[in-house]
Amino acid sequence: MRSKDFEELRDFYKHRLALNYGDDSTKETPEYWDSAAERFAKSSHSPEGRARAEEFLNLFKWEKGETVLDVACGPGTYAIPLALRGCKVVGTDFSSEMLNQLKLQAEKENAPEIECVKSRWLDSNFQIQFDTVLCLSGLGVVATDSDHKAHLGECLEKFYKLSRKRIILLIPHADSHLDDEMRRILGEYDIPMERLRIAMIYYAMVDHGMLPSLQIIQRPFKWTFENFDEACEVLFRKSGIKDVTDTTKERFINYLKKIIQKNKDHSLSLTYNTKQAIFTVIK
Ligand SMILES: C[S@@+](CC[C@H](N)C(=O)[O-])C[C@H]1O[C@@H](n2cnc3c(N)ncnc32)[C@H](O)[C@@H]1O
Repeated sequence: MRSKDFEELRDFYKHRLALNYGDDSTKETPEYWDSAAERFAKSSHSPEGRARAEEFLNLFKWEKGETVLDVACGPGTYAIPLALRGCKVVGTDFSSEMLNQLKLQAEKENAPEIECVKSRWLDSNFQIQFDTVLCLSGLGVVATDSDHKAHLGECLEKFYKLSRKRIILLIPHADSHLDDEMRRILGEYDIPMERLRIAMIYYAMVDHGMLPSLQIIQRPFKWTFENFDEACEVLFRKSGIKDVTDTTKERFINYLKKIIQKNKDHSLSLTYNTKQAIFTVIK
């Protein structure tokens, strides 16, 4: 018999903390992703973007003819290289612009056909199983319904039901968005919410019949900001930091100036290694 204390952990599945920490609900609409699609595709299909995707895919074995369902496939960041490796890929996403970008790029690269299904993940109705179900950098958004309510359990159950052999999930931020020096400047010493979320996702997967292996990897993550104010706004919001004094913000910006790169178009880039979590379920 499961103890009542364990039952209470299930409240988390419906909590906003089950989603991406620090984001509001804007990212849970197709309109948001439609407007981001072109820029997102440009970055995904750049030589660096493709190299990062290939490096990630190389962590796993892929069989020719293997069927893959890529949930929240975006512009085909992984779906296209997988199709080029001989997998039979179905990509699903609720943004028609993302799927358009996928089709355009697949055509450009002469990739084998990728079936595209436009749907909100929780409303999708796939009737067949796939050898592999992927959800890469998508779990924090696909687990919501159109009223922005979280349904983590239901979302994971769907991955499980539709996978024949394995599930691969990538959580792009398994740790704080702030590096050690930023945390010191802001006096932020609590265990980051992103880490706690990883533990809860693991629990939720076990609670839905899976026993995943969990791997924490380090990958470069690149932010692009218009200016230092935007950098502060994004990094503070993503980390749940409120009420920063002017002096602290100034110290924070002085630190950013040492590590940020100025681009030709005057935007700012901040690249650092972030910890990412890979959950793999083998059936
Ligand atoms: C961060 S992008 C990841 C794209 C791709 N997997 C990658 O790693 O490059 C998130 C994607 O999730 C899609 N998305 C967000 N919420 C969704 C939902 N509820 N159902 C289906 N797709 C969703 C967005 O349209 C977007 O393409």
